[in-house]
Amino acid sequence: MAGELKKLWVLLSLRVLLSVSGSWSGVRAQTQAQVPCYFVFGDSLVDNGNNNAISSLAKANYRPYGIEFPRGPTGRFCNGRTTADVFGEFHTSLSYSSTGQNWASSKPLFFFLPLNFWVSIIPPYATTRGQDVLKGVNYASAAAGIRDETGQQLGARISMNRQLRNYKNTVSQIVNILGDENSAADYLSKCIYSVGMGSNDYLNNYFMPQIYSTSCRYTPEQYADVLIKQYSKQLRTLYKYGARKVVLIGVGQIGCSPSELAQFSPNGTACVERINRANQLFNIRLKSLVDNFNKNLADAKFIYVNAYGIFQDLLENPSSFGFRVTNAGCCGVGRNNGQITCLPFQIPCPKRDEYLFWDAYHPTEAVNVIIARRSYSAQSSSDTYPIDIRRLAQL
Ligand SMILES: *[C@@H]1O[C@H](CO)[C@@H](O)[C@H](O)[C@H]1NC(C)=O
Repeated sequence: MAGELKKLWVLLSLRVLLSVSGSWSGVRAQTQAQVPCYFVFGDSLVDNGNNNAISSLAKANYRPYGIEFPRGPTGRFCNGRTTADVFGEFHTSLSYSSTGQNWASSKPLFFFLPLNFWVSIIPPYATTRGQDVLKGVNYASAAAGIRDETGQQLGARISMNRQLRNYKNTVSQIVNILGDENSAADYLSKCIYSVGMGSNDYLNNYFMPQIYSTSCRYTPEQYADVLIKQYSKQLRTLYKYGARKVVLIGVGQIGCSPSELAQFSPNGTACVERINRANQLFNIRLKSLVDNFNKNLADAKFIYVNAYGIFQDLLENPSSFGFRVTNAGCCGVGRNNGQITCLPFQIPCPKRDEYLFWDAYHPTEAVNVIIARRSYSAQSSSDTYPIDIRRLAQL
């Protein structure tokens, strides 16, 4: 009890300290910071609570999800932080360092920060009000896809088209706050946007032929073309509403997720190549889209993150990154722990950092941190294209 109280006190005092310095930086950010704001679009890989309030089977607002956070579940489909949370930390430290007060890189404070502070940095659209929209909003929704029908067997979800409608609503709030459209456009042009869509268009659409007809109508090549055509239109809308610095996150190796291994891998270890090949067809086209936008849209600065390749490094050489189990969820049910996601109050595996997957579909925080770090600061020339997020932020 005393221990709990002491912990609470430490959390509260850090929160006060940080919210004071936070608002100070917010003021400075508008004049000096490289990245004053961060907007997030995507699916369950980065959903931070938008699905909590909608009628969907795709929810993660119960234990053991969020087990790394002092206050437990948040709606994130992970034991801890998502890649968007980790990007948010980098962006925030960037804006602090650009004001000459780089407390975020001072190690002692950094390591004592309660995770809840970080995870509250970019709030979910569902709960963001007033001036808070200026620092950025997270629109991501589990089960959502580029296509509207994607994920419908799981109930309600906020598709990419609807995430864009919500973003337009935010933009009009920002126009009101800053006074006119030019100031809003100028402000938004400095923000980082990350968009990670497409996984569900495979997982909860194309490779679910009992429910969706797309695999009868399209070859994998045609489907990748159809997806990219629609995505391209959606990303142009994002550009039209102010986005200039955009990070496009490719789809990962869905054929290696415990869910797909449980269904289709004869020995439960070998990845499902026909799914991975389809994912790569999408990624190749997405990377070309980056060139297309940078060439044809004035002032556009799009980059591509090779999440597929980074994940492949972890799969091929898990022990050098400290991982031990690559083919089963840390929690879940059945073959590979891949047949159902974590059950409410299920006790997860004890060493979460040794698993690549937290549940049937989602990487652990340990993996998210690695993917986010390598996207922010590329370790290999194939991690990001044409530049990494760190350089994008500086442009
Ligand atoms: C599983 O099957 C693949 C290909 O069929 C093989 O290369 C791999 O060694 C097998 N793994 C195990 C653990 O049996």
